[in-house]
Amino acid sequence: MRPDGQRRYELAGSYDFCRVINGGWQLSFAEQGQETARIVEEWSGLVEAGFTTFDVADIYSGVEQIAGRVAARFSPGEVQVHTKCVPDRSLLPGLRATDLEAMIDGSLKRIGVERLDLVQFHWWDFKVDGWIESLHTLDRLREAGKIRHLGVTNFDTARLSALLDAGLPVRTNQVQYSLLDRRPDDGLATVCRRRGVALLAYGTLAGGFMGERWIGVPRPDVDGLNRSLVKYLLIVDECGGWDAQQQRLKTLRAVAEKHGVDPAGVAVRWVLERASVAAAIVGASGAHHLERNERVFRFRLDSEDHHALERDFPDGLRGEVYGLERESGRHASIMRYELQQAPDA
Ligand SMILES: NC(=O)c1ccc[n+]([C@@H]2O[C@H](COP(=O)([O-])OP(=O)(O)OC[C@H]3O[C@@H](n4cnc5c(N)ncnc54)[C@H](OP(=O)(O)O)[C@@H]3O)[C@@H](O)[C@H]2O)c1
Repeated sequence: MRPDGQRRYELAGSYDFCRVINGGWQLSFAEQGQETARIVEEWSGLVEAGFTTFDVADIYSGVEQIAGRVAARFSPGEVQVHTKCVPDRSLLPGLRATDLEAMIDGSLKRIGVERLDLVQFHWWDFKVDGWIESLHTLDRLREAGKIRHLGVTNFDTARLSALLDAGLPVRTNQVQYSLLDRRPDDGLATVCRRRGVALLAYGTLAGGFMGERWIGVPRPDVDGLNRSLVKYLLIVDECGGWDAQQQRLKTLRAVAEKHGVDPAGVAVRWVLERASVAAAIVGASGAHHLERNERVFRFRLDSEDHHALERDFPDGLRGEVYGLERESGRHASIMRYELQQAPDA
């Protein structure tokens, strides 16, 4: 499935993608408009450099369209666009098959293709029934040729197992997984490995907080941070706070210097070396990190590195994936649940 060191991951049925996926959420809160042409150019440059896979969503404003414009510049199949299907929370009770089909048709139209490569389904509230039926609907759309592969996002161990027990061909689960967020290690990764589901990891760089530029910098004020950094500042706080993060960054930098890479490269490499992880999704508002991200395919962490990282990242998050975010506390309070009507911006 995943020979280590390789830059591609073969999913199933002669479909493969890059193990560092360009994440599109950052574009939904970046200035688009006149910037769109530049973004299309930069994302095309990523494809030319071998970063051929994009992660977008029906709720990321304007981003499916940008990925579609990029894909249209290349031969069919050369670019992979993974999107998400995220029904509004208020619509979950009574969500109909026709609603889901309309959402899929919307993605097809915005990306400008006849079949979606991968649709990752999200369900805000498992206390509301309907998620298994919804996946059956999406599977029928897959059989009808509108979707190539089915995936989910933020599904915990029990719910993912229930989908697989129902015979649904779920190939991927996109979850937060990083040196800071170890929740997939508490059961999910094992189930994925046993049952052939590939994990796609986001948050590997904690929105950027695993990068060089935050070393020696005071804890930022949330005002002025983008939505991703606001989200991951909460994760940093959960994991011992800013001072502890500074210590961890120094360890990352020491390991990075040994391999001639940057701290972020070590954080991404660590995730890529986890069993069950097919790819890291790294936020890409342009191509300015291209050279640094390219280096993650040119080295491997050795046992000394793993020992240092385990020693200095002792207090990572544990529990079920997306558990904190589903509760009513501060992690949940920054979520936007009704984005179909007003996509993320
Ligand atoms: N399914 C979900 O619920 C969910 C949730 C969140 C995200 N996602 C997906 O995951 C993607 C990743 O987003 P994320 O929020 O988790 O952020 P992330 O990937 O942890 O961090 C991304 C940020 O890190 C910085 N960066 C990238 N490469 C770097 C490098 N080599 N060195 C230093 N800094 C680097 C960039 O910031 P600068 O450009 O400012 O330097 C970039 O915006 C999103 O775009 C989205 O596709 C999915």
